[in-house]
Amino acid sequence: MRFSLKFKLLVGFLLSFLLTSCTQKEVPPYVSYLSVSELMQWVIDPAADRIWDSVAWYSTLKGERAVAPHTQEEWDDLRNSAATLMEASNLLMIDQRARDNGPWMNYSRELGSTAKKTLLAVQAKDVQAVFDNGTLIDAACEACHLKYANFNSKKLDK
Ligand code: HEC
Repeated sequence: MRFSLKFKLLVGFLLSFLLTSCTQKEVPPYVSYLSVSELMQWVIDPAADRIWDSVAWYSTLKGERAVAPHTQEEWDDLRNSAATLMEASNLLMIDQRARDNGPWMNYSRELGSTAKKTLLAVQAKDVQAVFDNGTLIDAACEACHLKYANFNSKKLDK
């Protein structure tokens, strides 16, 4: 039996397509060691707390009292926390942690971009901007929790 060149080409194309699509199921090189809950408790929450606790203004009987980083070490510590949040936003988007390919990704990216703005504010040693961006980080956490986390009875102590 003789096959036309067109037919042979078609079979060849289909075979190579099948072969490549079978071998394309690559295992990603990374491993997600922590669950979403552990990532929140051990990485994201402590880093966010560091930022939220670092700047504040209190009204006392003797007037305003400000809490802000003073030494370079304190500023560096704050920078590290912002950087941790920034990169942790990527960790939320990989593997089985991502709950979907839509809003979850947007909320995660929002966390990353607000943390990046905080990092820039830290590098500029702009206390007011650190505070303002800290509020934006808080909003990014809340937005995702509202949609995906079921905290019903569990109260988060921030
Ligand atoms: C992209 C979505 C998303 C973002 C952004 C996010 N979280 Fe979460 N977080 C969750 C989900 C989902 C849970 C529930 C995890 C579970 O129970 O499996 C959770 C749980 C938590 C918990 C409770 C963990 C536990 O199991 O006790 C804390 C604390 C927490 N998040 C803090 C934060 C903070 C702080 C931020 C922002 C700096 C943040 N999260 C940003 C999705 C998110």
